[in-house]
Parts: sequence; C-alpha cells; structure tokens
Amino acid sequence: MRVAIIGQGYVGLTISVFAGKNYEVIGFDRNQRIVDNLNRGQSHIEGVESKDLLQLIDSGRYFASTDESSIADAEIVVIAVPTPLSADRKPDLSYIESACEVIGKNLKHRALIINESTSFPGTIRNYIKPAIEKYSKVDLGHMYAISPERVDPGRLDFNQKNTPRLYAGLTLEATQKTQDFYSKFCDNLVEVSSPEVAEAAKLFENTFRQVNIALVNEFAQIAHSLGISVYETLDAANTKPYGFMKFTPSAGVGGHCIPVDPTYLAAVAEEHGVPATFIRRANEVNLEMSSYVVNRISQDNGGSLQGKSVLVVGVAYKPNVADVRETAAELVIEHLRSRGAVVSWHDDVVGIWNGEKSAALSGADIAVVLTLHDSVNRSEVVGSAPYVFDTTGKLKGVKGL
Ligand SMILES: NC(=O)c1ccc[n+]([C@@H]2O[C@H](COP(=O)([O-])OP(=O)(O)OC[C@H]3O[C@@H](n4cnc5c(N)ncnc54)[C@H](O)[C@@H]3O)[C@@H](O)[C@H]2O)c1
Repeated sequence: MRVAIIGQGYVGLTISVFAGKNYEVIGFDRNQRIVDNLNRGQSHIEGVESKDLLQLIDSGRYFASTDESSIADAEIVVIAVPTPLSADRKPDLSYIESACEVIGKNLKHRALIINESTSFPGTIRNYIKPAIEKYSKVDLGHMYAISPERVDPGRLDFNQKNTPRLYAGLTLEATQKTQDFYSKFCDNLVEVSSPEVAEAAKLFENTFRQVNIALVNEFAQIAHSLGISVYETLDAANTKPYGFMKFTPSAGVGGHCIPVDPTYLAAVAEEHGVPATFIRRANEVNLEMSSYVVNRISQDNGGSLQGKSVLVVGVAYKPNVADVRETAAELVIEHLRSRGAVVSWHDDVVGIWNGEKSAALSGADIAVVLTLHDSVNRSEVVGSAPYVFDTTGKLKGVKGL
C-alpha cells in the first residue's frame, strides 16, 4: 500500500519511519534541501535515526520528493504541515490549504486522507474536505479522518508505538480504514465519536499544559516575594498522592504547540461567542515571564544591565532538541538588549540561530540559564559567570552555584 505523507518535519518524518515498516512511503515536502538530505538517508529530526531511514530507503519503502505528482497513486495521504499563528495571532491554515491543493490536484484514485496537523474542531469537515474537493478536477469520493499527533520530539519513553492515538473519520468506512492504518504501528488506538472530539481533545491537552505552566510561573513570582523556594514548595505539594500534578516554572513556553494551540481553541471559542479569558490570560502570563526574569537579574545586579555581558545558556525551546520555534530565549534576549546588556548565547545543539553562532560557555558577567541539554556540563555553566540565574531549577546542588 502506498502512503503519501505531506510535510517531512517533526511529525511527518516520524510517522514516515514508523509507517515505512508496513507501507511504501512517499515523503512529500516543499523544501528541496530537506528532501535531498532525506534521500541521502540523513534525518534532521531528533528521535528519527538516520540508520532507520537508510534501511527503509535501501528496501524501497521510502523516498522523499518535492514533485507533487509523486503522490498520484497514494491510497492513504497523511497531512503533517505547520499550523502556526498569523502576525495578528489568528489560526493560519495557509499550509493546510497548500497541502489540500497538492492532494486535490494530484491524487488519481479514491484515497483515505488523514489530518495529523493540529487545528480547531471542524477543520477536517469544514475546511480540508471542501478545499480538496475544490482543487480536484473530478470527485473521487475520498474518505476523511483526523488523528491528531502527540509526538514529543526528543522523548525516549513514549513514541508512535506506545502513545495512545485518538482517531475518528467523517464516515464509518474512513474510521475503519484509519484504524487499519495505524494499528500496524501503534499499540493503543482510541476511537472517538467524531473528528471534532479528536481535534478538540488535542487542543485541550496542550491548553491544559499552557494554563498549568502559567499557574506555576505566577506561583514562582509569589513564592519569591514571600521569600520561600518555589521548588521546595512544589516538591512538598507533590507529596500528595492524588489531585496534584507538578509543573515547573520557566522563562516562558516555546515550540510549535503550547504557545500556539491554545490560541486555536480560544479563536474558535470566541467565534462561538464564548470568551476564552482564562486561556488568553495564561498565554499573557507565560509571555510576561521573560521580562520578569530580566527584572530579577537586573535587581540582583545593582539595578542596571547597561554594558554588562550576559550569556544566555540554552536557546532551544526545550532540552535535547534544536527547535527554536517560539522559544522564550527570543524575548529574554530582546529584553536584555533593550536594557543595554551585551548579549551572546550558548547552545551547541542549535549551533546557529538568527545569524549568530553559539558562543563559548565562559567569560560573561552574568549567565541566564533557559534550557539545559543533557550534553551540557553543569559545572561549566556554573563557572561561566560570577552571577548565574537558573530558570530551569536543574543546577540546584551543583558546586559553586
Ligand atoms: N513538533 C511537534 O512536537 C508536534 C507535536 C504534535 C503535533 N504537531 C503538529 O503537527 C503539525 C506539523 O508540525 P511539525 O512540527 O512537524 O512542523 P515542521 O515545521 O517540523 O514540519 C513541517 C514540514 O512541512 C513542510 N511543508 C509546509 N507546507 C507544505 C506543503 N504544502 N506541502 C508539503 N510540505 C509542506 C515544511 O517544509 C516542513 O518540512 C503542526 O500542526 C503541529 O502543530 C507538532
């Protein structure tokens, strides 16, 4: 069976490699550089091993392409393209639209079309299906389903096989075929009664994280003002064996999901006349953490950062990935520079970012730790400046802090 996966990024490539064990996979992407590297067996995604990719290529079960016609004979098409926010922070479905155009114009036979991209309830029914039909010359009567992706890049304990997967089709046939597809490489499939439930569940999962992160970020500020340790207090609360889940404070949230998905839920809520005040405020609290962190650093350093050299340690949005999308480091650096600090950053996993290179882990007046990759030497971080502000809580107990 031929499966075309539209988008070969974090989600699409991960799915390609799992699906490649049982299907012939075409990885379609618009980015020629990514496609060329993939066809050489070079993975650009943490958690997807190049050797696994090479094995699939050698056995003829995977190839990547920028050629739209390569998907023509696919029996299953999975959409895994970005769903960001527009400049005015509204859902931006332009990548979905362009994926629908590729599918509509190129598929030659009736196929099952599954959306894995995160979007608001109603996307597969009211947006993707009509868009594909608009671009198709003839009505092939495609089947449509949703199975939101839950991959957590860089995570080793949960993957496509052991992470329960939600799914629902627009028709019984689509639901059944979606189950057949995923059951080959996923152990735990959870059917829900409609695509809208699956779409909403995905948004709610990430909204739950966003709101709880905002709550703990607000609590970190309260704890500091009370002169108590936020970490000790959270550990104490976490001894309760039920009704509590521990989240940890940070300089803000990043990545393509937590800062973005709740806004999709808020937008659809407001369209239906329900003000999503809680979700909106959580987003603001997380965004405000960057200036709170910089204020704290400034207060501890005589009230001014003018001319001080500040090293930001870790600019990826989370440990052990090179992903800098929506990273809190962006705002922290902006605030530091607006106060006259001379800012450099260290992150050898990211390497190059915004035209700047990762700097040495030494010689600064001030170090602010935002993300700690496993590969980073904790003692070197502590030794990189006479004053170190750790937003991760992971340097506790390291000698010299
Ligand atoms: N990254 C995650 O951890 C994660 C987890 C769960 C869900 N998601 C969701 O999955 C979707 C994809 O996210 P991602 O992180 O994989 O994005 P990504 O940026 O890593 O990859 C997307 C890929 O799609 C390609 N692309 C864009 N438009 C295209 C088109 N019209 N045709 C073909 N290729 C196209 C891009 O070149 C890119 O390589 C988003 O909706 C995201 O919210 C992401």
